Amino acid sequence: MHFSTLACAAALSSMVYASPASSSSSSTNGLTLLSDAIQKGSTLDGSTETGAAEVGQAKSAVSTNNFINICSGKTLTNGEQIIDGSCNGIPMGDIPAKTAMVSSVITNPQTGKTVASGTTFNVTVQVSNLEAGFFTNADATYYSAPQALSGGKVVGHTHVTVQDLGKSMNPSSPLDPTVFAFFKGINDAGDGQGTLNAVVTGGLPAGNYRVCTITSSANHQPVLMPVAQRGTADDCTKFVVTGEGDTANDASNDGSGGLAAAAAAAAAVSAGPGGSVAVAAAAAATTTTAAASKQTSASSFKNGNSGSKGSGKGRRAIKKRVFVS
Ligand SMILES: *[C@@H]1O[C@H](CO)[C@@H](O)[C@H](O)[C@H]1NC(C)=O
Repeated sequence: MHFSTLACAAALSSMVYASPASSSSSSTNGLTLLSDAIQKGSTLDGSTETGAAEVGQAKSAVSTNNFINICSGKTLTNGEQIIDGSCNGIPMGDIPAKTAMVSSVITNPQTGKTVASGTTFNVTVQVSNLEAGFFTNADATYYSAPQALSGGKVVGHTHVTVQDLGKSMNPSSPLDPTVFAFFKGINDAGDGQGTLNAVVTGGLPAGNYRVCTITSSANHQPVLMPVAQRGTADDCTKFVVTGEGDTANDASNDGSGGLAAAAAAAAAVSAGPGGSVAVAAAAAATTTTAAASKQTSASSFKNGNSGSKGSGKGRRAIKKRVFVS
């Protein structure tokens, strides 16, 4: 609870902190597109200009007015997490210099190392060039304002998301992004030196997992960087949670591993009519680990920054997945 209160305070100060970028003059709030804000580059489709004629290159859409009415007649994102899709007309905003691009590395769990099942552990991320600890209300201001900088660094936050890989550390099918074993927005500024922690309370059941970061600007959009050719802003690593079986793969194979964890996580957020289905699926895991996973998921939703409304929409998606699987 104290954590949430502190996190909210950080969010509020963020808005004040970032305001010079978004309210440099009252005219930015008018309905007129100022001439010095028109990007003439957007009148070009790219086919005849510098760097043209790369084989297979697509022509860009063009606009003489910065696409200001691009979303007219469509479902507007309007600050909400619209699960059926939407159109967001908010500009991208301030972009850092090439010398200040965001970069992340997960320092725990380490690649090739294992974590014991049912044991609390930290996902630790070291991030450079992020003014961390700033997140806006994800229910009302999702993608609703441009990316902003402070001291040349992107103002924002990161998240960690852990997904079950199933029976293999090298699955051939992309993972279902609506299903995760653990998710947490890291809303604090960590140690102020780029070290950020997400505590996986109660740990995870045995299985094969992938953990990734999702680095975001304050309004939750993926961070925007100044050049196309670069290293990624995020990191992923794969790790094994041991226990409940001779090997982690055995654990997954016999249903006591990661798949059960995902089901338990889904159960934790699908309280209601669909709950019993998810709970039944989660019963493959031991009572203890299922309970631990449930608690982990519930608290990550509560403390995370996906917001109650966003989570509510996510709940439906997850519940649906549980029904069809
Ligand atoms: C997680 O990180 C925090 C901050 O460094 C530390 O106090 C805590 O002991 C760590 N927890 C575990 C389980 O390693």
